[in-house]
Amino acid sequence: MATLFVDLFGKTLRNPVMNASGTLGYGREIDPLWSVDTLGAYVTKGLSLKPHHGNPPPRVWEEGRGMLNSIGLQNVGLKRFFAEHFPLFRKRNTPIVVNFFGFTDEEYIECAASIEPDPLIVALEINLSCPNVTKGGICMGKEARGVFSIIKRVKETTPIPVIAKLTPEVADIVEIAQAAVSAGADGITLINTMPGAAIDLGTGRMAFRGGLSGPALKPIALKAVADVSRAVPVPVIGAGGIMDHEDAIRFLMAGARAIQVGTATFIDPFAIPKILAGLAAFMDEHGLSRLSALAGATHD
Ligand code: SIN
Repeated sequence: MATLFVDLFGKTLRNPVMNASGTLGYGREIDPLWSVDTLGAYVTKGLSLKPHHGNPPPRVWEEGRGMLNSIGLQNVGLKRFFAEHFPLFRKRNTPIVVNFFGFTDEEYIECAASIEPDPLIVALEINLSCPNVTKGGICMGKEARGVFSIIKRVKETTPIPVIAKLTPEVADIVEIAQAAVSAGADGITLINTMPGAAIDLGTGRMAFRGGLSGPALKPIALKAVADVSRAVPVPVIGAGGIMDHEDAIRFLMAGARAIQVGTATFIDPFAIPKILAGLAAFMDEHGLSRLSALAGATHD
């Protein structure tokens, strides 16, 4: 029987499959269907120092081979997450990755500083795709210097491993990943959603603007994972349009150490357990005993 165990930042996870941030609520929404300890690690919704209301509806828009979302970073805040939701993960002995963000550099630092290390916290995943209000609303993750500076300060603040989650809306994602790693990032998540829009044909109105996820994003994410994992010495976590175990295997072959599943869960809430079952069956069928046999197997 194949084992799906994976080593990440000094911890051993039972498998490489996580949810993408924001796609399983706070865990308790999915736990009645399948226990959160099915996951290698649970990734929190992006958390900020203070609770945040987010955007008015509509917040999601189905679009061909993808989904647009504009949740607006709604969340209960770090304090409430740890008081009200973290106990479920403790009860289920499930490792977590804490995704967090701020609207200013100082907010990022304060967030990171306020998170107490815990044996169940695998890493902090820093969301670099939100607007920096003190820099005219530009997206934090779009230029290498800004990424270097924020990650360096976060790393000085916390002993917990830090993963940089990068936006694909950049000229050279390898350059941004290298800046994150030279600042001390322990891992890179690739990729966040790609900004997009939908237009109502009847009225000509711009009906929706938001981040594109789902299968339409997969080729962009796969390329980013393949390019970045060859260029940096830290683990890469792949995300973007992973719908089934075959997609998961492609990301592992491209060089991802672990993967995150997001939009697939909106179509089928059992997508994650199905991906895990498919992954184990694939390994057995091909006589592979460890996931490392797939690692970076992609070649030109
Ligand atoms: C949101 O809450 O609007 C999405 C956050 C993200 O994509 O990073």
